[in-house]
Amino acid sequence: MFDLTGKVALVTGASSGIGRASAMALATQGAKVAVCARRLDRLAALAAEIKSRGKEALAMKMDVTIQKEVGAAVAKTVETFGRLDILVNNAGILDYSPFLELTEEAWDKVLDTNLKGYFLMAQRAAREMTKNKWGRIVNIASIASGGVGVGYPMISHYVASKGGIVGLTEALAGELGPMGITVNAIGPGGVETEMTRGVTEEKKQSMYARLPIKRFGKPEEIAAAVVYFASDEAAYTTGATLYIDGGWLAS
Ligand SMILES: NC(=O)c1ccc[n+]([C@@H]2O[C@H](COP(=O)([O-])OP(=O)(O)OC[C@H]3O[C@@H](n4cnc5c(N)ncnc54)[C@H](OP(=O)(O)O)[C@@H]3O)[C@@H](O)[C@H]2O)c1
Repeated sequence: MFDLTGKVALVTGASSGIGRASAMALATQGAKVAVCARRLDRLAALAAEIKSRGKEALAMKMDVTIQKEVGAAVAKTVETFGRLDILVNNAGILDYSPFLELTEEAWDKVLDTNLKGYFLMAQRAAREMTKNKWGRIVNIASIASGGVGVGYPMISHYVASKGGIVGLTEALAGELGPMGITVNAIGPGGVETEMTRGVTEEKKQSMYARLPIKRFGKPEEIAAAVVYFASDEAAYTTGATLYIDGGWLAS
C-alpha cells in the first residue's frame, strides 16, 4: 500500500518542518519530488539527501505569492520529470497581532502566503493533473481554521487564511473530482517546527494539561497523512479535513 513509484510530487515550503518531512516521506514511498521555498540552500541539501537514498529530487527557489514563480516551478517540474501528480500546498507563515492593532500589511502578507499561494499553486498544478486525469492536492490547514468551535486570539489573520484553505479544499474537491483529482486538507495541531519555536516551555506545559497526547506532534506524523492522501488508496477520499492534533479539538 501507499506505493508512489512513478508519481511526481511538488511540495511547497519544503525548506523546513512539515514540508521537509512530507517531501522525505513522499520520496521514501517512491515519488520523484520537486521541493520549493525561498531558501534554496536548504532545499539543495534536502534534494541531496533524497538523492543519496536513491530517489529523485529537484530543488527550486520559489515564492508562492508570485504567480510567475509558481508557473515557472510547475513548468520546470514537468520539464524535468515529465508530469505532475501530487501537490502538497504547505508553505505558510504565522504572525501574532492583537486584532485592534492588526495592520493591512500584516493581513495581506499572511493571506497572500497562506491562501493566495495555495490558490495559485492548486490552479497551476491542476492544469497539469487534468492532462493525466489523475491528481492529488493536499492542503495543509490548521486546527486554527474556524468551524470547529474553537477561537484563537491574536492570530485572526492566520485563522482567516486557514479557514479559507478548508473552504477552498471543499470547493475544489467538488470541481476537480470529475477530472480525477482529489483535494483534501490536513489540520495539524501544535507541531515541533520553526513555526512553533517561539512557544515557551511554560506555554507548552499549559497546553499539555489539556492535550490528551501530552506533547507536540512531529513533522513526520503529519507527513504520514500526506502520503495517505497522495496515494491511490485514498481515491475515494476527497473534500476531507483531517485534524492531527493529539486530541486537542476533542478535549
Ligand atoms: N507547526 C505547527 O504547529 C503547525 C500547526 C498547524 C498548521 N501548520 C502549518 O503547517 C505548514 C508548515 O509549517 P511548519 O510548521 O512546517 O513551519 P516552518 O518550519 O516555518 O515552515 C514553513 C515553510 O514555508 C515556507 N514559506 C514561507 N513563506 C513562503 C513563501 N512566500 N513562498 C514559499 N515558501 C514559503 C518556508 O520556507 P522559506 O522561508 O525558505 O521560504 C518554510 O519552508 C504551514 O502552512 C503552517 O501554517 C503548522
